[in-house]
Parts: sequence; structure tokens; C-alpha cells
Amino acid sequence: MNFTFEALGIDSKDALVVFAGEKLALSNSAKDIDTATNGALSKAAKTAQFEGKHGSMLMMLAPNGIDASRVLLVGTGEAKNLTTLTLNNLGAAIIAKLQTSGETTIHIAVDDIKGSDVPCGEAAARIAEGALLRNYRFDRYRTKESENKKPTVANITVATSSAKDAEKCFEVLSAVAEGVFLTRDLVSEPANILHPESFADRIKELSADGVDVEVLGEAEMAKLGMGSLLSVGQGSERESQLAIMRWNGGEKGDQPIAFVGKGVTFDTGGISIKPSAGMEQMKWDMGGAGTVVGLMKALAGRKAKVNVVAIVGLVENMPSGNATRPGDVVTSMSGQTIEVLNTDAEGRLVLADALWYCQDRFSPKFMIDLATLTGAIIVTLGNEHAGIFTDDDGIASGLSASGNVVGDKVWRLPLHEDYDKKINCDIADMANISSPPGAGSITAAQFLKRFTNDTPWCHMDIAGTVWSNKNLPLSEKGGTGFGVRLLNHFVEENYEG
Ligand code: BES
Ligand code: ZN
Ligand code: ZN
Repeated sequence: MNFTFEALGIDSKDALVVFAGEKLALSNSAKDIDTATNGALSKAAKTAQFEGKHGSMLMMLAPNGIDASRVLLVGTGEAKNLTTLTLNNLGAAIIAKLQTSGETTIHIAVDDIKGSDVPCGEAAARIAEGALLRNYRFDRYRTKESENKKPTVANITVATSSAKDAEKCFEVLSAVAEGVFLTRDLVSEPANILHPESFADRIKELSADGVDVEVLGEAEMAKLGMGSLLSVGQGSERESQLAIMRWNGGEKGDQPIAFVGKGVTFDTGGISIKPSAGMEQMKWDMGGAGTVVGLMKALAGRKAKVNVVAIVGLVENMPSGNATRPGDVVTSMSGQTIEVLNTDAEGRLVLADALWYCQDRFSPKFMIDLATLTGAIIVTLGNEHAGIFTDDDGIASGLSASGNVVGDKVWRLPLHEDYDKKINCDIADMANISSPPGAGSITAAQFLKRFTNDTPWCHMDIAGTVWSNKNLPLSEKGGTGFGVRLLNHFVEENYEG
């Protein structure tokens, strides 16, 4: 998709998009169209009971008096309620409406909106950002799509009184969107294509963006004593990998911030095997790693002024004659021993060694881990919020605030030593599941905490938000890219400059 920003005007042969506020307050461009069409636009609006409510739409085809092939009138609602996110949603709704319409070019006239807090150049860029994000599709494996279902729109021109500002703003937003798309690509990829080694290869491609990438294989991890992570992949034909990414956009020697991701490229459950219905969903059990990798692309793409380390543990959890058995005891890099009572609680085993390695090697300011860790988080929060667990109030409030700004919402859940007791174990330092059962997401977080060595840390359980079975405002069914824009915003607001 090509985006261009230009001066305001309605001179277009293509699909023309204009806006109206509450009580049918037509924008200047909409008024111009109304005049040129001899009042047809306002007449159509009245006929359709279109009043300008946020997100409402009215389509006028082949209007008389202007060259445009069609006019789409879009309601903005009240100007004071417009935010970067609601502007994103408008742009997204426009492309969703026109994507397969047969039009190849859309011209969106974003007149200055009085009473909005968002500067007009940024407003134009945010509408474009929303269109860009929503336009993404994962269609690598479709070979027989009928012509009328294929996207036709290839160009979007956005008209604004501040084209220069809009263009500058959009340059940054589209760099971040590239990160979101990388995450969606990785999450959507089936597990026969994306396994630990091929995932590591995809990560190596980030060197082109200026990210340093190192990959450790099983022998190197064994030398480091990562018995916990390695126990998860030992039933798989694929070799487990640990990828380490570094973006050094900050001052030389500045302590880095760190992100750690669970990258289980397929989670069968192992010997504690999952039921077959729905198991295909476990191809996206690498969503935490996918998000961390997309975030690094976003940060590098916009040349973020901060030093960042990202570590992802890439493994495949399979049953086999060599797989970990329930009851096996493994020794983690930290020296702590773990009784694996359930081989399906594998994500925490991967993160245990990745987190320990991260703080041990990099002494970061803080670590945030992302993981599709528990089904229980979906019971708790559904698909609407990700769960966050941290003892650091600053990180919690920063993440909540950023989440609300970009629309990737998070909700804080407790950590407490009373939950920690539930993973104590008779024959090893801890068990990988809690007893008696209950509070599954919290006890999983307590488990991870034991591998942070008191480094400030936050765990984000994204099992409910990585994938969506329905279209969302900014993404079609499938991988959502949840977390990339959230963490990008969090970093930008709190750790740069
Ligand atoms: N990958 C799953 C969690 C999950 C479930 C992610 C559904 C996305 C959707 C994780 O490895 C797992 O299997 N967790 C178990 C833990 C249990 C055995 C303590 C779970 O949630 O059932
Ligand atoms: Zn599992
Ligand atoms: Zn899993």
C-alpha cells in the first residue's frame, strides 16, 4: 500500500472520503462536495438518517457534478472525543469498507477539526496508520482466491493542511507498523514452516535493520546449564534455539532495558498431551517471542534512542521416546531444580532459563517477559486485556497508560508469597504446576519471579490477545500483533532521551 500526503482538495477521479461531525456537521471538503453535487450529499445523509456519529458511514456512488467514482462520508462524532486511537479506528474502518470495492486509489480529505486535541498533521497520519494496520492480510498460502475477494486498493492519498507534518509523523508510524506486521507474519506461520531454527533465521534478517543478532544452539545452552529450557525441546526433532537481539540506539554504556519472549513454535503439551480439538491453535504459542521480535523491528525501524536487549527461547514441545516425562527433575541455569509435574506447563520452563540468562549477562534496568503462558488468563480476562504481573508500580502504571493510548489493554493481577507457596515441592526446589490448583496465571508468574534474581521485572500473559477469531478494529481475524505498539509507546514515553 502506498501512502501520499498532499494539500487539501476534492479534485479526484477515485474514491473520495470526507468527514462529518455530530449533528451532520459537514467538513469543508464535504461541504464542497455537497455544493458541487447540488446538495445530493446532505440529501443522501438525511435520507439515510446519517448524523455523523463516530464510525458511521454513508456511501454515494457515481455522484453527479464531481469526477469521483464514489463518495464515502464518515462520521467522526464529537471532536473532543477524537484521540490517536479513535482516528486509527476511522482509518481502519475506511479501508475495511473499501478494500475489495474495486477501487485502486482512495483519496481521504482530512480537514482541520476544531476542538480536537490531535494536531491536524498528526490526525491525518493517524488515520493513515489505522488504514495501514487494518489492511494487513496473511495470504501467503492462498492460491485460489476469487477475484472479487482480493484487495484492490493500492494507493491512499491523504489530503491535509499540514502535509509535511503528516508525512513526518507517518514515517515513524509506518516503521512501527512494519514491526506489527512481522509479529503477525510470525504468529500466523504454521509450525511446519516456523520451527526453532527457521524462526532463528527470520530473526537473523533483523541485522539488515541494524539489530545485532546472536543465536545459541543446544550444545551452547547445555554448556550454560539451561536444563530447564532444554527439557522442553528434547522430544522434538528440531533443535532448540536461544536468540539474542540487541539494538543500541542509546548512549554507549547506558544500562539496557530487556524483553524476553516465550517461543514455543508448537505446543502439543508433550507427554501430558493436549486434547486434539483446537490443538492447531498452539502454532501461535510462540506469540511472546513473535511480539518481542516485532518490537525490535519497530524500535530499530524508527531508530529509537535507547539500548534494548531482547531474548527469545525457541523450542518445540513434542511427545516422543526422548521427551521429558511427568515427574522428571531438571536443573535450571540458576541452579534451582524443578520437578516437571506437567509437561504442558512448558512456557515457564523456557522463560526460567531465558530470564536468568538475561539478567546474568546484561544486568538490565528491568525485564519484561511476554508469553502465551496460561489458558487461565483467558478465563480471567477473556480476549480484551492481557494480564500483567509486577512488583514495580511504575512499570505497571506505565504499561496500563500506554495500553490505553494504543488500544492494547493490560490489567494488573497480583503477585504474593501466599501464591508462591503453591509451587513448593517435596523432592525439588519447586514444581512447575501449583497444588492445590487455582490461580493458574498467578502461580505461573510466581514461578517466573524465582528466576529474575530481584531484577525489576514484569510478566505479561498474552495468551488471550495474540490471536483473534474475529475482526478487530485494527486487525483482521488472525494474529493481532498485540503488544508491539504498546511496548513501543511505553519505551518512547519512559526510556528515551
Ligand atoms: N500454551 C499454553 C497456554 C495457552 C492455552 C495459550 C490456550 C493459549 C491458549 C501453555 O503452555 C499451557 O499449556 N498451559 C497450561 C498450564 C497448566 C498445565 C498448569 C494451561 O494453561 O492449561
Ligand atoms: Zn503447554
Ligand atoms: Zn505453551
